[in-house]
Amino acid sequence: MPLPYNQRTCYCGEVGLDRVGQTVLLCGWVHIRRDHGGMVFIDLRDRSGIVQLKFNPETDPTAHEVAGRLRTEYCIAVRGQVAPRPADMVNPNLATGKVEVNVHEIDLLSTSETPRFPVDDDINVKDELRLEYRFLDLRRPVMQKALITRHRAVKIIRDYFDKLGFVEIETPFLTKSTPEGARDFLVPSRKHLGTFYALPQSPQLFKQLLMMSGFDKYMQIVRCFRDEDSRKDRQPEFTQLDVEMSFVQIDDVIRVAEGYLVRVWKEILGVDLTPPFPRMPYQQAMLEYGVDRPDTRYDLRIKDVSDIARRTEFKVFTGVLDAGGAVRCIRVPGGAAIPQSEIEKADDSLQNILRGIGAGGLPYVKVEAGPSGPPAFKTGVAKFFNPERTAELVAATGAQPGDAIFFAADKSADNVCKFLARLREEVARRRGFIPAGMWNFLWVIDFPLLEYRAEDARYYAVHHPFTAPLDEDLPLLDTDPLKARAKAYDVVVNGTELAGGSIRIHRGDVQQRVFKLLGMSPEEQQLKFGFLLKALQYGPPPHGGFAMGVDRMVMLLQGLDNLLDTFSFPKTQEFFCPLTEAPSPVAQAQLDELGLKLAAPAKK
Ligand code: AMO
Ligand code: AMP
Repeated sequence: MPLPYNQRTCYCGEVGLDRVGQTVLLCGWVHIRRDHGGMVFIDLRDRSGIVQLKFNPETDPTAHEVAGRLRTEYCIAVRGQVAPRPADMVNPNLATGKVEVNVHEIDLLSTSETPRFPVDDDINVKDELRLEYRFLDLRRPVMQKALITRHRAVKIIRDYFDKLGFVEIETPFLTKSTPEGARDFLVPSRKHLGTFYALPQSPQLFKQLLMMSGFDKYMQIVRCFRDEDSRKDRQPEFTQLDVEMSFVQIDDVIRVAEGYLVRVWKEILGVDLTPPFPRMPYQQAMLEYGVDRPDTRYDLRIKDVSDIARRTEFKVFTGVLDAGGAVRCIRVPGGAAIPQSEIEKADDSLQNILRGIGAGGLPYVKVEAGPSGPPAFKTGVAKFFNPERTAELVAATGAQPGDAIFFAADKSADNVCKFLARLREEVARRRGFIPAGMWNFLWVIDFPLLEYRAEDARYYAVHHPFTAPLDEDLPLLDTDPLKARAKAYDVVVNGTELAGGSIRIHRGDVQQRVFKLLGMSPEEQQLKFGFLLKALQYGPPPHGGFAMGVDRMVMLLQGLDNLLDTFSFPKTQEFFCPLTEAPSPVAQAQLDELGLKLAAPAKK
């Protein structure tokens, strides 16, 4: 008689002492099988956890015989009686560790090949293999937990916005390719040969149009598509919480965003965040942390010491300063104890890591107590610091005996930021400066509106071209555009950019001025953004909003260090899906229908 698996009593993880004596029907996968002198023990696993099954050859010979044939990942249903474990058999590591189920009946629902990797939390397997067998990978408890947390967090967010009167509205996936963002994924049109839809990089313009339609408060949990260079924290398709509101200023948007973050962190982690989160101007973030997503859990702040460096005899310093560059440094408390090999010799030395991102080297000094009292420098570039320069640098950095000071010198101040930002992260990690369990949320504000890229000699929007300048900076658009600051804001958590947004331009003339600064002629503006300029002629309300990376949020909530682990079916770093083997060549007939001819044969 097959077991009625549709009449399951409970999940495996729910079998506790309160069920002792009860008969339960459980379904799941064989996690581990052990033979103990006749007795067979099976750890049965489902999404809730694991429970121990016991098969006794004396009392239940038929079930015991089937159990003897089970292998890992076989799918079974069992019926049996819950019993307390003998005191010496209690497993304190298992939620169900005080009980076991004496199985009287078993149904083998399906067998399994030997899995290519264990269905365990801790595995050491390449992403490619995990993704090829994603259906097995997702059986691992950590992965189940990540996806279930993702579901819960999104539910909390939807409920929060619903209560505040936001309306979730879907926006198209087949849309227009517009310039100024990342690279688009294109979809060829069959009905309009030779033309293409683009998959949306975000619903940015649609949500602005919805404000112009009077919806006032919009939100959407939405897939976005970007053909960017891959990085550890990027996927070609990812999910945003996308929000837009009318008749608001920066503070209103920030308050709404802080509200849901507080709720999610409380309900998922039991952590109390305390809004308002601190706000840091972009300039300060770049100067003190070297990045626009500062990790403020540890200090190691950057100091500009160009003035002192200029008056040393060190050619590297004076050279970059003469070329208009900068010399900045980080004081590492206790850093004198870092072995020289770790600083400049080993393959993964700090210097080699910085060279890997373009630094010329890693000048440093170690600080020791001077013979007559004041701190003195030794090793590295100490010889270039006479007593006066030494005293100045000690005063500027607050250096104590036992510290080390690391410098970055480059013709480009941007590079100096990049090098020291990387050094901060690396030193903090290696020296154990990152406190556990700390959540440092902050807003980075006052971003520049525009940046200049020499390679194509024009301005680019730092955020996106629809971001409004600060009111007081509006005149700068005509006089000194690079000085204009934006009404933009990013949420940064422990060094990760979690969300970003802005107040938008809602005046057609300002929007056209910004487009012009971005090098677009009036004709081009019409061709590319005519629909937006048209809508801006029909009573657009002031509006603003933000978007948050849902995947990044789940990564933070679950303490994961791989963005892949927050997705059900992600792509590799090469944007390839080892499971389905997408992207893949298509039939000639499909190409013909789309009027497409391959210039080169398809590459696997
Ligand atoms: P932005 O481009 O900053 O803003 O994106 C918002 C957030 O989305 C997440 N994110 C990503 N996550 C995973 N993989 C990616 N490739 C990826 N790219 C971005 C980040 C980021 O903070 N429309 C604007 C928002 C607005 O102005 O309202 C936008 O898309 O967490
Ligand atoms: P040297 O004078 O060659 O012994 O170099 C002294 C220190 O300066 C070493 O720690 C190097 O890593 C560093 N250094 C040398 N060249 C550069 C450079 N172009 N930029 C930054 N640091 C450098």
